[in-house]
Amino acid sequence: MSTEPVFKRVTTKALALLKQKGIKITALTAYDFITAKLLDEAGIDLILVGDSLGMVFQGNDTTLPVTMDEMIYHTKAVTRGVKRAMVVVDMPFMSYQLIIDEAFRNAGRIMKETSAGAVKLEGGERVAETIRKITAAGIPVMGHVGLTPQSINQFGSYRERGRDKEEAEEIIKDAKIVEEAGAFAVVLEKIPATLTKEITSQLNIPTIGIGAGVQCDGQILVTPDMLGLNKDFHPRFVRYYTDLSNEISNAVKNYISDVRQTEFPSENESY
Ligand code: KIV
Repeated sequence: MSTEPVFKRVTTKALALLKQKGIKITALTAYDFITAKLLDEAGIDLILVGDSLGMVFQGNDTTLPVTMDEMIYHTKAVTRGVKRAMVVVDMPFMSYQLIIDEAFRNAGRIMKETSAGAVKLEGGERVAETIRKITAAGIPVMGHVGLTPQSINQFGSYRERGRDKEEAEEIIKDAKIVEEAGAFAVVLEKIPATLTKEITSQLNIPTIGIGAGVQCDGQILVTPDMLGLNKDFHPRFVRYYTDLSNEISNAVKNYISDVRQTEFPSENESY
């Protein structure tokens, strides 16, 4: 299968068309200009400025401490590097859960200040009204069901969701509600592959999976994970496409050695 980009500029309509044609949607996270530029130039369809930045960028244990200002700061850097991909921004914990009007204002602020293409929020039934209101204002919304990391204190662990019948039925219901409320796509996180297959066949909007098997309309990974930068994190669903931890460590060791032995800078590297 070709890795050539299918569209000049990825929009919600383009993503719907990819699902219709059975072409898998590719998505990764980015939190900074250089990474976003590299992902975009490589042909990725969707870049998520995920609140996972709270863990992989800031070093927190959960995504909960991330603020609106931080999401906006990182998204501005990301959108400066992107020409083609659709940029989606996570609404951080407590920026949309309490009051619908506040959610609406925060979604508007993200769109106004960052040049992103859409926002993402976690949950099903309990955020349906919020999705309705935000999409009614012309702001595309991506849903996120299954393991929703902002609810970690309710779940108690990051284990997969939807293993028992009751929870699986709840996730199916949530995914359908998210679609009915107007979302253009939905992330399915850490659920059984059989459940993914069922949801993907029942929805018209694209499903984007992480730890959800191959039956989604697209896949997303956290970029520092798939680049092997996050050495202490080895979940089963991550495939390591390179080992940047080692690459960076070796490069830094070589630099230290060159500086100590006065082998850097050379004459050519001096003025
Ligand atoms: O925050 C994030 O990076 C996400 C992905 C894991 C889907 O929500």
